[in-house]
Amino acid sequence: MGAGELEIWLNHFEQHALHPRCAHHGLSDVLRTDERELIASSIATFQLGEQSEGRTLLRAAERFARQKQVPHLLRIIELLIREEQRHAALLRAFMQDHQVPLKKIDWTDRIFRRLRRLAGLELYVSVLICAELIGNVYYRALEAVTDCERLRVLCGNIVSDELAHVGFESQLLFTLRAGHAARGRALTRHAHRIFFATTAAVVWSTHRSVLRGAGHSGRSFLRACRAQYAFYLEPTGVLANSRESLSHKW
Ligand SMILES: [Fe+2]
Ligand SMILES: [Fe+2]
Repeated sequence: MGAGELEIWLNHFEQHALHPRCAHHGLSDVLRTDERELIASSIATFQLGEQSEGRTLLRAAERFARQKQVPHLLRIIELLIREEQRHAALLRAFMQDHQVPLKKIDWTDRIFRRLRRLAGLELYVSVLICAELIGNVYYRALEAVTDCERLRVLCGNIVSDELAHVGFESQLLFTLRAGHAARGRALTRHAHRIFFATTAAVVWSTHRSVLRGAGHSGRSFLRACRAQYAFYLEPTGVLANSRESLSHKW
């Protein structure tokens, strides 16, 4: 990813910080009791996952940007974290308005946070992108299980933001991995694939009521997650060539 691509991402995130996606006024905001029971624990876990000050990521990005003299990277990451915090705030407001209890702790969230703290920028982004790719499949399912317009629009807006996040992060990962030798790159890709599949299986087992409510079976959910992964991280054909051309070393 060269300075030109970084500038495009910077413009994107600056634009979104100025004009965030909003829900229109006048949407219905009724969450039925059966819907509330179905989603309460699950949405609380995802709300917790969106909530982060991003200190570890900022530190890793700052270190990396300074060492490699990468322009705009730190600012892009700052804006991306701010967008995540906005997701957390919107979900929190929705939950509070509908008396859905917030979670302060969740074992899956704790594992993700510990893993992200382990090492530098590449590992952090590798873990984060898994959560976001699977999160996109989840938010679409959450949207499908409710008739509450406010929640449906909120899920749609989060997915739209996240599509840009995974676009940027996948490009960033390709560039970071371009710095490894071919063997190291292959091993990293293999380990990442295993981590992704394991995470998707854990999300299925811990959120299956919502996912089943949206019509998923374990197999269809894992297939949808894998399709997201392949599209962003294992592109083929023209897409692969364009990724290749963007992933020169820093
Ligand atoms: Fe988010
Ligand atoms: Fe995100």
